[in-house]
Amino acid sequence: MGTQSELQATVQSLVRKGKGLLAADESGPTIAKRFKAIGVESTDDNRRAYRSLLLSSNGLGEHISGVILYAETLGQRADDGTPLPQLAAGQGIVPGIKVDAGKIALAHAPGDEITEGLDGLAKRLEPYKQQGAHFAKWRAVYNVDGVRPSRLAVQANADALACYAAICQEQGIVPIVEPEVLIDGDHSLDRCAEVTETVLHEVFHALHRHAVALEHMLLKPSMVVPGKDHAQQSGPAEVAARTIRVLRRTVPAAVPGIFFLSGGQTPAEATANLDAINRLGPQPWLLSFSYGRALQDPAMQAWKGQAANARATQDALLKRARLNGAASQGKYEPAMEAD
Ligand code: 13P
Repeated sequence: MGTQSELQATVQSLVRKGKGLLAADESGPTIAKRFKAIGVESTDDNRRAYRSLLLSSNGLGEHISGVILYAETLGQRADDGTPLPQLAAGQGIVPGIKVDAGKIALAHAPGDEITEGLDGLAKRLEPYKQQGAHFAKWRAVYNVDGVRPSRLAVQANADALACYAAICQEQGIVPIVEPEVLIDGDHSLDRCAEVTETVLHEVFHALHRHAVALEHMLLKPSMVVPGKDHAQQSGPAEVAARTIRVLRRTVPAAVPGIFFLSGGQTPAEATANLDAINRLGPQPWLLSFSYGRALQDPAMQAWKGQAANARATQDALLKRARLNGAASQGKYEPAMEAD
């Protein structure tokens, strides 16, 4: 298959009505933090057990079209010997891979960060592909206050995202471009909207400079929400209106799908907000979810590291997948939480 048709086929299997993505690509330190919260030690085998449990949830493919994995998981196997990427693929879920190497302080820009991992990226993609990955993810983060992110941080992260996306496309891997405007802080909804618009504008400018085919990439943005310490929080209707306004101003219609991150929203908030976004009517792109915590938190709480909780863990994941699947079509009702 040529690279173009390969990219097109992957986009088609990911961008599916009523389906979203499961982000299960927590890095070593992040999964250790999540496990610590439920009193579980982060060993290779605990990570393998937990992630096999998620991917073997029966029927997960009904609402999940792709899963983002961490490099370690690509090489792990379920108890019966099935490689974990194959376990996902067997349910019609396309495996993907987080390829950034995390963030560091951006030099000469106090309080700003830059994502690393471009060196050797093209070479690293080859084995990932052989292990079954068809798409990739790179996350840039933007800290918000009255003056941050700086112009430098906005430009440097846009350039890295675009460089990554171009490298992926050349290797036949669909890039998910993730610019995350952080929810931390006491900034207002207006400030989040202003920063998100600036960030996305710069990202698409850089993608154009790097000749990235917009038809063969996906966007994973944060929603427009006030900082979590801001005095006035916003309901789903307001979040939806502000999010859609910014996206319509900045994201070309050629982009096939926008898959939001949850970024610290509670599972119910992330679902209600996605639902409100999809009730605003037809938009040029499919609008769905690529949640990590908002899909996994209830499952992890149910699991607590115990094999005996397998069924409850999978039920909790399937429930969030089903409710978000409904929200991705504007068909969610808060009463469904009680089912
Ligand atoms: P959250 O939905 O927990 O923000 O995670 C999504 C993700 O992939 C962050 O990179």
